[in-house]
Amino acid sequence: MALPATFLEELRARAPLAAIIGRRVKLTRAGRNWKGCCPFHSEKTPSFVVYEDGYHCYGCGAHGDAIGFVMQSQGAGFIEAVEQLAAECGLEVPKPTPEAAAAEQRRLDLHGVLQAAAEAFHRRLFLPEGARALAYLRGRGLTDDTVRRFGLGWSGEGRGALIADLGRQGIDTALLVEAGLMTAPEDGRAAREFFFGRVMFPIRDRTGRPVGFGGRILGDGQPKYLNGPETALFAKRRTLYGLDAAREGARQGAAVVAVEGYMDVIALHQAGFAGAVAPLGTALTEDQLGVLWRLSPMPVLCFDGDAAGARAAARAAMLALPFLTPERSLRLASLPAGEDPDTLVARQSREAFQAVLDAARPLAEALFDLLREPGGETTPEHRAALRARLEEAAGRIRHRGLAAEYRNALLDRFFADRRGPARRIPLRPAALPPRPPDPAARAASSGRSLLVGILLRHPVLLADVEEAFERLALPPALAQLRREMLAWRVDAPTLDSKGLMSHLTSAGLAAEAAQALGESAMGLPACAAPDASPAEAEAGWWHFFGLMHRDRLEDELLAASRDFASRADHASQRRLEALASAREALRRGEDGLDADAFL
Ligand code: UTP
Ligand code: MN
Repeated sequence: MALPATFLEELRARAPLAAIIGRRVKLTRAGRNWKGCCPFHSEKTPSFVVYEDGYHCYGCGAHGDAIGFVMQSQGAGFIEAVEQLAAECGLEVPKPTPEAAAAEQRRLDLHGVLQAAAEAFHRRLFLPEGARALAYLRGRGLTDDTVRRFGLGWSGEGRGALIADLGRQGIDTALLVEAGLMTAPEDGRAAREFFFGRVMFPIRDRTGRPVGFGGRILGDGQPKYLNGPETALFAKRRTLYGLDAAREGARQGAAVVAVEGYMDVIALHQAGFAGAVAPLGTALTEDQLGVLWRLSPMPVLCFDGDAAGARAAARAAMLALPFLTPERSLRLASLPAGEDPDTLVARQSREAFQAVLDAARPLAEALFDLLREPGGETTPEHRAALRARLEEAAGRIRHRGLAAEYRNALLDRFFADRRGPARRIPLRPAALPPRPPDPAARAASSGRSLLVGILLRHPVLLADVEEAFERLALPPALAQLRREMLAWRVDAPTLDSKGLMSHLTSAGLAAEAAQALGESAMGLPACAAPDASPAEAEAGWWHFFGLMHRDRLEDELLAASRDFASRADHASQRRLEALASAREALRRGEDGLDADAFL
């Protein structure tokens, strides 16, 4: 029975091809690839080339991937080769059961569904009803050629378009739900389209097959981007937007550069930066770093030129340190303040972004500045703390020799830097922006902080309030917190505040979280105190939500009562009661706080 394609893909992606082949053949670097004498025929001058994901002999024509190499060089059978490689990569070979075969068939079906959906969205973009969306994309400077190359589309104005298109092709609702294109409410109401009124960005795997979608609202509105849910095919933390195009670019020698957004990737490719990719709305993950390193030994990570960008850079550096080797590192680039790559190439020029890339600093050089205090270390205590951070950072590098070199280099800088405050160098955390001075703005922002603050203290509520929380209009710092909080919830072992805060700290958002808690503390009522029960906290959350969006509270109540009627479990009961008591309090005119301040 066949092994699942996803498993084989993962195995091929993880197998360290050059290292495996390097055990049999002496390989030397040849640009991005490796070269050596072919193990399959005798030769004196090397004509055997090892690429990122395969090998080829220009002498005898031997050709294959990691599995093929083990088979060909050891005379092993396919399963034997797979088992050997899996053991080396720490992967378990899935048991070939009938269920696994059925699941595999399902996955193949899902690929078909996503492909059909991508085509339907794309077609719609060029129909009269897609005119507004197409004009939007053109207005953002994309050529029709680029729109086609990235397969951009239009979801349709309201719900119903996709099912109309795909239903005709015999694709049923259940498959669309599994593909992450529709959501099925738990109360048995009919499934509905996930995306509507959005420009559609197909997210493709390394071979170019769509695995999911992101959707952008036309113009302003919240949430600006919506990413489809995780599915059997779509794992956000392992996927990079633009990967299929960037693989091709990297093969042709383009610099591999990770930026923040979909539009950044597309604008960069259009401007000729063929190695651009982006994570999907969250901070770069370890898996994504691994993917980058398969494309290039020295990818560039590009960050915003502000304090948040510097924190993100520091976080990415910490993530990467354990995996550095003498052959594998990073460069860090910093954008001019207030620009993203898209605005930079649009408002200025391709050269402006090239200059950003040219100014990218090797990690070893940038690291010292990333670890410093914003204002420099002025007291012996601060210097001692910096020194400890430097040692700790070097200690993270698993490669012994390299760790020692980093340690020496960092300490050299430390001692050379004895006098004077920190120089102004890009990519160093700067002070937080000042709070808004205007009291009304301040109060409104504290209302939003409060909603975030309650969830920071009681993350167990995240599931109950998720949809309302996701749709809340939030300023950038809070939106960033929200994104990390929702991402964390997906695989957090337990939903406790301590775990969440430490996750946010490692995501470089400690300051934002502290600020949200600080601002909300001004008005944090007893119901949202750390020792409040989940039920009290939830009632408090809906209460303040209702103060800001009275109309939406009614919708939530309606949904909650249906939910309770169909599920009748503890969580749905808690949600319903919390909503009811929030509405009651609002009716009575209790506002807990100065209600006007929030509106
Ligand atoms: P940005 O807010 O920086 O937007 O989000 P952008 O890429 O510059 O978008 P444009 O130029 O206004 O179209 C960066 C990335 O964060 C994720 C998306 O992946 C986006 O590309 N994001 C952003 C979301 O997932 N949801 C949001 O509401 C906003
Ligand atoms: Mn942008």
